[in-house]
Amino acid sequence: MSLPEKIPKNPVLSCQSFGRDERGYPSVLDAGEFLFLNRGSLAIAFALKHVGIAGGDEVLIPAYHCMAMVEPVLWSGAKPVFFRISESTRLDLEDAGLRLSSRSRALIAPHYFGFHQDMPEIRAFCDRHHLVLIEDCAHAFLGETGGHPVGYYGDYAIGSAWKFFPVDEGACVVSSKGRLAGASTEPMGLFSGIKSFVNTLEYAVEYRRMGWLNPVFRLAFRLKDGLWKSVKQNPPASTPPDKNENRGGHTGFDGSRVTQSISRSSRMIVSAASKSRMAKRRRENYLKLQSRLGPLPGCRPLFGSLPEGVVPHVFPLLVDNPEKVFPRLKEEGVPVIRFGEYLSLDMEKGLCRVSEDYSRRVFQFPCHQDLKSEELEWMMNRIANILESAQAQG
Ligand SMILES: Cc1ncc(COP(=O)(O)O)c(C=O)c1O
Repeated sequence: MSLPEKIPKNPVLSCQSFGRDERGYPSVLDAGEFLFLNRGSLAIAFALKHVGIAGGDEVLIPAYHCMAMVEPVLWSGAKPVFFRISESTRLDLEDAGLRLSSRSRALIAPHYFGFHQDMPEIRAFCDRHHLVLIEDCAHAFLGETGGHPVGYYGDYAIGSAWKFFPVDEGACVVSSKGRLAGASTEPMGLFSGIKSFVNTLEYAVEYRRMGWLNPVFRLAFRLKDGLWKSVKQNPPASTPPDKNENRGGHTGFDGSRVTQSISRSSRMIVSAASKSRMAKRRRENYLKLQSRLGPLPGCRPLFGSLPEGVVPHVFPLLVDNPEKVFPRLKEEGVPVIRFGEYLSLDMEKGLCRVSEDYSRRVFQFPCHQDLKSEELEWMMNRIANILESAQAQG
């Protein structure tokens, strides 16, 4: 049986989330005009709908993907067309070119784990073939490339706030090309907004980030859970989603929420959080993970270095023995993310060996700004022990 994660997989709210941010740090919100939305997958759907993509159209999606990238395309009525990536996770534009048809309308370009694609090259490809470029910055809310903030090259860019900030939900759609003129969103309902903030606080209490207030909040949340349990036995007509439904991965696409905005509390946290602190700490934690885990047997970091301007979402590690290692990580409560664990069944088998391999073998570990140094140490030691013992067992 797996234990709950012993340390937080996602950013956690505390006083340290804020503070003076004199220098700031470039983010996707600096790339152009933007609208806050609720989820990154909904933001992709928003962009597809806004540009008029519909049944009969085709959207190019890289073979290394998660369903949160495919579902909005299916929702729009368009057909996903998959193309290869290289071992360095660069989009294979030659392969994409071979898959074009007269119905091709758009291409989705993700910055895997925060590491930037060659955007000028992708931009030129899309211009040549009259494709709408959706720059997927779900893993790269912060960062700059070629002297521009992430998201600058796309006709639309999307960001996923909850992967970077201590919030329960939140995303954005951005356009540096003036594509959002006239677009609007709908505010989140009061109940859902309160629920989102309560979830954020509850996560912080779970990981003891509220100082002397922690026991007070814990008691209040226990009472709330007891009350909620009794309400659940006689559920009202519309039952709100379970707590923390968003945490830890994609949980289903709801097309009725495509224009729904972020909650008020998440918007405030995103605006007030110190982005330079986030960038600095994420990069520092990433480098610690790289130097501790890099030399271990039975694995290698997916990327050889951490270029300037990259603010990583996670630390991706390519593991030799995933079937042995993954259950041990779960048993010990180590937070581990597996992007692309499930590839679309519509993708032809063998289309991209690299994606199929990475889908099984790339594990991602948190490097977010709110990890305490003892938590990071604990995680690195557990991973090292597990990898070493898997190697010793052969
Ligand atoms: C590359 C990529 N794009 C888009 C999304 C969708 O973001 P969200 O989880 O905010 O819906 C995800 C989610 O994991 C993702 O990994």
